[in-house]
Amino acid sequence: MTTNTINAVKQGLNGTIRVPGDKSISHRAVMFGAIADGVTTVEGFLNGEDCLSTIACFKKLGVNITQDEERVKIEGKGWDGLVEPSNILDVGNSGTTTRLMLGILATRPFHSVMIGDDSIAKRPMSRVVDPLREMGAEIDGRANGNFTPLSVRGGSTKGIDFTSKVASAQVKSAILLAGLQSAGTTSVTEPALSRDHTERMLEAYGVKVKREGLKVSVKGGQSLKASHIVVPGDISSAAFFLVAGAIVPNSQITLTGVGLNPTRSGIIDVLQKMGASLTVSNEKVVSGEPIADLTIETSSLKGIEIGGDLIPRLIDEIPVIAVLASQAEGKTVIKDAEELKVKETNRIDTVVSELKRLGASIEATEDGMIIEGSGSLKGATVNSYGDHRIGMAMAIAGLITEGQVDIERSEAIAVSYPSFFEHIDRLTK
Ligand code: S3P
Repeated sequence: MTTNTINAVKQGLNGTIRVPGDKSISHRAVMFGAIADGVTTVEGFLNGEDCLSTIACFKKLGVNITQDEERVKIEGKGWDGLVEPSNILDVGNSGTTTRLMLGILATRPFHSVMIGDDSIAKRPMSRVVDPLREMGAEIDGRANGNFTPLSVRGGSTKGIDFTSKVASAQVKSAILLAGLQSAGTTSVTEPALSRDHTERMLEAYGVKVKREGLKVSVKGGQSLKASHIVVPGDISSAAFFLVAGAIVPNSQITLTGVGLNPTRSGIIDVLQKMGASLTVSNEKVVSGEPIADLTIETSSLKGIEIGGDLIPRLIDEIPVIAVLASQAEGKTVIKDAEELKVKETNRIDTVVSELKRLGASIEATEDGMIIEGSGSLKGATVNSYGDHRIGMAMAIAGLITEGQVDIERSEAIAVSYPSFFEHIDRLTK
């Protein structure tokens, strides 16, 4: 177990950084490259533990994948190039690897077994397993297939017209991936639009995807053609420094090349509604995804209400939004966010318990939390509970506390942002 210590930075955070590549897009770039025909190259890949788990799994499925400083090279041999793995596929801490790979394996005519860490073992898989079974895949696991270890025997599957109860890109993506190798058409309708990286990237791999509002459909029998993918900076990683810039006195931070896909950019809406001084510049599109540079300055903030369709657009940012809200004037209410309970930890519980240790005025609700802002925070020992985003949210809070913050199990941060502490150091020099 690693413990990292953070102290308040009186001189502020100043400078320019490039946050690591987007986690969701990095996973997809490798997975889609692995089932495509030909050699795919990926630039800006996130070298975090989650995405490395995806690479390791696809290597076990027989795909040649190599990496140097600049790029990842994936030698795809098409859907039929995947082979029965001779050993267990270890997904580590990654829900995206587990669920999307289930969708891919559901149509492969062989047997495979997936395991992950203690956090993965608690995350619900029925949301993906049930529709994939309905399509014809044989999947089993603990609690009737809801929890890992999971075993999959794929085979001939048929299309499904599926309506999901949750706005989840992992559910949507798993079913669409299975649909690509199933008979007929497969459609997924969701209650609100979740991140659409799968839809965008499948098109970059030559797949036809039909989108009508909240419904996405693909026809079966489609193969993917190798591509070259440039991965934008991860807005979910940028969020930590956007919040730091807004709440730490004397700060001005520029983050370059950050992905601003509208299904992910809810944090920008929140910062603007709270009154933060944020500018967006140098907007362009790379590999079908919008990117821009973001500059944030120390700001006076006011509390707001966050709920409804905004939630899927910022779900991973809620831990650090709670830190932001603790420094705003007035009350911030976060609602409609029950999904927080099934992330790497129950993030309603972990955000509330750890921010309380720092003296924040925060209460859990059934579907979110309520934060009374403007309180000064005090140093304490906190725990990430093995959740990268809890660890980073606590570190950002530590930049403004009276007294030091010790973050236990801070090694979890390497899941999505291995250079996180280096970037804090760079901005404080
Ligand atoms: C992800 C989708 C989201 C998100 C996760 C990554 C993805 O999860 O929280 O960090 O890459 O598709 P859900 O699909 O469960 O909402």
